Amino acid sequence: MSGGAGEASFDWDTYWTDISDEKREEASPNSHHAAEVLPEFVERFDGPAGVADVGCGAGVTTFAAADRLSETVVGYDTAAPVVERNRERAEREGVENVRFERATLPAFAPDREFGVVFAYFTLQYVRDVERALENLYAAVPPGGALVFNYMNRAARDFCSIAADDPHANADHPFVFDPDEYTERFGALLDGDSVLSRERIYETLGTWPRSAFTVADRPDVRWAWHHALLVYVPKR
Ligand SMILES: C[S@@+](CC[C@H](N)C(=O)[O-])C[C@H]1O[C@@H](n2cnc3c(N)ncnc32)[C@H](O)[C@@H]1O
Repeated sequence: MSGGAGEASFDWDTYWTDISDEKREEASPNSHHAAEVLPEFVERFDGPAGVADVGCGAGVTTFAAADRLSETVVGYDTAAPVVERNRERAEREGVENVRFERATLPAFAPDREFGVVFAYFTLQYVRDVERALENLYAAVPPGGALVFNYMNRAARDFCSIAADDPHANADHPFVFDPDEYTERFGALLDGDSVLSRERIYETLGTWPRSAFTVADRPDVRWAWHHALLVYVPKR
């Protein structure tokens, strides 16, 4: 699968090189609240085999899913350093049902289909978000589901307030590093990656549904308020 950060709006390769523990934490929202959601969704949804975690970052969810499920889980990320680090961890820990590959959305053309394709806190970084959704959904066979969270107009408005002066708003959610805030969230702040139920329906031809009609909802209100977690079944 082709890699490279050409389509990304932010240099994630540099970000993941020699990353500090603090930055790894901020880039791994799953470690706080959603590592259980993916495996639980896969078990309860009971669709075709295979799980892809696209924009997997440090692999918190990828490894959690591989640990709980017997099927193969493949983590994809645009950043070569984090893919390499995850491969080393899988080797070190002897995890046999996990693989890591490079992929840079909006392009996504894996060599197989996955019953569940998951993308968490990743689509907000992709300017051509409709093409990303189409390509992710194309990797799902009938009976499967695309599961993802997305930032809506309210989330963009919320982030725009901090963008006026990221240094003065350094304690604002998502302002992890004021120096790179507007660059990191450029696709969202410009409105390109803002999604809505209607935009998802118009792109995929099926209405999104709350993922919490399938999996339990962890009690982390800020996360679900700013980034709705949905699934789109494939018929
Ligand atoms: C905020 S982190 C989320 C990581 C993980 N999903 C989690 O929740 O712990 C966003 C991840 O998306 C990756 N990413 C950013 N743009 C991408 C793109 N265009 N294609 C694939 N991955 C991308 C980054 O390298 C980073 O690892």
